[in-house]
Amino acid sequence: MLQGRRILLIIGGGIAAYKALLLIRLLRAEGAEVVPVLTKGGGEFVTPLSVGALAGGKVYRDLFDLTDEAEMSHIELSRAADLVVVAPATADLLAKMAAGLADNLASTLLLATDKRVLVAPAMNVRMWEHPATRRNVEQLQADGILFAGPGEGEMACGEFGPGRMAEPEEILGAIGAALGEGPLSGRHVIVTSGPTHEPIDPVRYIANRSSGAQGAAIAAALRDLGARVSFITGPADVAPPGGVDVVAVETAREMEKAVQAALPADAAVFAAAVADWRVENASDSKIKKDGKGALPRLELAENPDILAAIAGMKKGRPRLVVGFAAETDDVVANAAAKRARKGCDWIVANDVSPKTGIMGGAENAVVLITGDGAEEWPRMGKDAVARRLAARIAEALG
Ligand code: C5P
Repeated sequence: MLQGRRILLIIGGGIAAYKALLLIRLLRAEGAEVVPVLTKGGGEFVTPLSVGALAGGKVYRDLFDLTDEAEMSHIELSRAADLVVVAPATADLLAKMAAGLADNLASTLLLATDKRVLVAPAMNVRMWEHPATRRNVEQLQADGILFAGPGEGEMACGEFGPGRMAEPEEILGAIGAALGEGPLSGRHVIVTSGPTHEPIDPVRYIANRSSGAQGAAIAAALRDLGARVSFITGPADVAPPGGVDVVAVETAREMEKAVQAALPADAAVFAAAVADWRVENASDSKIKKDGKGALPRLELAENPDILAAIAGMKKGRPRLVVGFAAETDDVVANAAAKRARKGCDWIVANDVSPKTGIMGGAENAVVLITGDGAEEWPRMGKDAVARRLAARIAEALG
């Protein structure tokens, strides 16, 4: 799949560097050529010998290595690649990239390249969550740097949380997508996500507890398989992923309009927790207490059912329409009934009763309902659910 593609792989200094060795193997098995750059820190974790042996060639290490400069300058090195990949990308490397520093071979190559750059961050959770790293990541995303991961999970330092480097298979998928080679390349997928806010007056609204985490993960997973993603999101807690077309909306009616405007699409995934009702008599000015204890009466009106409307399109319907069902009881039976009622192809059902901790949590336990029946998936991270669903969508679109 990556036949003849040349990947410049910068291996930063972190324990996740061992996964870069697996990545080299995977890339070469796909037919790619790997030109490895091992930073000083990276060299503390994996040896130049293993990197060179797996890559089947020279390992670049030093900016001031005159032999290298005579053979190939750092400018050429950074440009002869089809894609530059940094794995693991340490907090320090990300900071250098965000600031435009060029004080060693890796950072110089990253500043000199005219190719796309994909980073797979790996660091302790506190470092990942530090405001400085947050700022740098935001800057890099704005600069068009592509991200693979990090995922959540147990880390070598014994802590748990985001910061764990994406698995090599996942990075391989992101590389394929960055090179326009994923199984969904050329496909357009609409994803709705997050809650909607339905105004009562200019300062109050009706909302729900959806964080938007599952929808954002699905959009990222589809992007990683090469899809062009229109990500239509209500006011979510989770930031939208990079590399997707984001349309931010507030109400269900705005969401419906945005979905219609994003058509045509090959598939549509409705992960948003759309409010069933809006306030029909929403006030244009702030509702005040009248001092006599009279209570305002809210008149509710039903919101448009976006999923049902798109699933029922006679012309121009996306080939695959996927809905979600957040249930608290009889999950499978209710979800199967919902699939029939809404006319969608699949329903991803989950149990959101408070005891599961799924709503707003990092994990999900879903049942996929298709025309062939119900498939129970084991409880796993929302990222893993997203990847599995994206892979199924790719399979279904063929
Ligand atoms: O009917 P219920 O809200 O349980 O259905 C959930 C599914 O329908 C989700 O996929 C959700 O995104 C979608 N939906 C929608 N528009 C609505 C209500 C739900 O697209 N107004």
